[in-house]
Amino acid sequence: MSIQTVATKPFPGQRPGTSGLRKKVSVFRQPSYLENFVQSVFDTLGDCAGKTLVLGGDGRYHNREAVQTILHMAAAHGFAKVLVGQGGILSTPAVSCVIRKHGALGGIVLSASHNPGGPDGDFGIKYNIAAGGPAPESVTEAIFHRTESISRYRISDAPAIDIDRIATSRIEQMDVEVIDPVADYAELMQRLFDFDAIKALFGSGFRMCFDGMHAVSGPYAKAILEGMLGAPAGTVINAVPLEDFGGHHPDPNPVNAAQLIAIMAEDDAPDFGAASDGDGDRNMIVGRKFEVTPSDSLAVLAANAAVAPGYRAGLKGIARSMPTSRAADRVAEALGIPCYETPTGWKFFGTLLDAGKATLCGEESYGTGSDHIREKDGLWAVLFWLNLLAVTGKSVQQLVDEHWARFGRNYYSRHDYEAVASEAANELMASLRIKLPTLAGRDLGHYVVDFADDFEYTDPVDGSVATQQGIRIVMTNGSRIVFRLSGTGTEGATLRVYLERYEADPTYHHLLTQQALAALILIAEQVGGITGWTGRARPTVIT
Ligand code: G1P
Ligand code: ZN
Repeated sequence: MSIQTVATKPFPGQRPGTSGLRKKVSVFRQPSYLENFVQSVFDTLGDCAGKTLVLGGDGRYHNREAVQTILHMAAAHGFAKVLVGQGGILSTPAVSCVIRKHGALGGIVLSASHNPGGPDGDFGIKYNIAAGGPAPESVTEAIFHRTESISRYRISDAPAIDIDRIATSRIEQMDVEVIDPVADYAELMQRLFDFDAIKALFGSGFRMCFDGMHAVSGPYAKAILEGMLGAPAGTVINAVPLEDFGGHHPDPNPVNAAQLIAIMAEDDAPDFGAASDGDGDRNMIVGRKFEVTPSDSLAVLAANAAVAPGYRAGLKGIARSMPTSRAADRVAEALGIPCYETPTGWKFFGTLLDAGKATLCGEESYGTGSDHIREKDGLWAVLFWLNLLAVTGKSVQQLVDEHWARFGRNYYSRHDYEAVASEAANELMASLRIKLPTLAGRDLGHYVVDFADDFEYTDPVDGSVATQQGIRIVMTNGSRIVFRLSGTGTEGATLRVYLERYEADPTYHHLLTQQALAALILIAEQVGGITGWTGRARPTVIT
């Protein structure tokens, strides 16, 4: 067995997006494509002698092959040890947890998150740093620059090793330790939440449905909900991870988790419903006939954080991505703690969490998390809600209604226009940018524009600056329209239009969301010229 140096040529376009490098499986299967990227990561890291790497993925098609390739390249790069999830499986939050717990140099996550899988689906790879979170832009840019000039990669020619048995083996001088993907994560959850109270809740006949969406969180949910917390068998549905997620789109929103929504709409529906995505970092919370928007979920958890043992000491601050509704800001104000507004993408929360400025974070895209790790965490959010339901004895809807009555309601929706021609999407954004200086003070329907800009963020900890992070049109009464192009898609461009309206008066807290936002939807069309540029009369997905 020896280490081979293989000549290669750069592939264009290996720049990581919002969350790592995501491409079609067919792109990743080109000879040297994955190898080039991995070597560029390793070259960026430099000498890794004596260091540990964590490796795992969401089990999608190509996961197992990629794990073998990366193990053999890690051995050639001189790592001392790789901790790999059994079967190549580790959820994204579990990777973050394992990196932190074992003091690893970093980790590699193989996932395209909520994007579909299978031979015609998507694949992805992301590097996480020692703190456990996604590499910051300074690192991802360095990796990208390396991919542009790469001329060789190094790999051991040792045979494939068994990743299905919990054991330690060797490639060259490197130990490969196959670990239980759930154990470290479950132990962390047990420290954060009141497992006895949740056990008692299930013991009292409380019913729940967790939709694993045939993705990575199934085994975690089964072990924790049904195993440790005593939820009845069958609580977790679609629990077995499949390479193509059963042909579904593993994105926990009301459109893609239609089966769960149907179950929760029945007259004898369970008390609580939840779903997670491909790699286990997203969550959707559903009550009986009642969907909780992610922005509200963050605000409700923040307002009630003291119910969970891990958060009893209080929150240092809350952080949310710019397009996320401002419901959490009101809670932060009431608690007398800061609320940070960051660009889209979990990587922007890392410095705030590391510096102890924020405890809870959230994104409108079904992402919630805290300083317990450095990724968003689907099952964590579900356990937090279970803890809250157990301690208060209230229903999901009751908790949210009471929250709105106290803080007001931020009506919120995101309209996605998927697979739009990239040029048209870029021109739409460019023409909006040109209009920005003329918008302030203008009357638009019943609204008056307070200000309009292209969101720019200066990280309060390290001073790094991110520009062009989404166009905001903010009205004098706090309502907002945000236009952004997705950084995770693999086909053309995806335009996201985010709409938000604040309503203080409880008399108006139970309107249908799209109706409550109708005037803003019209303004978005008028100002953005969406139909003209995209040729689409309506969004592909509304959440
Ligand atoms: C999307 C979400 C964003 C999230 C990211 C990774 O990114 O909008 O909030 O952090 O997926 O899960 P986008 O496609 O909008 O760039
Ligand atoms: Zn995800």
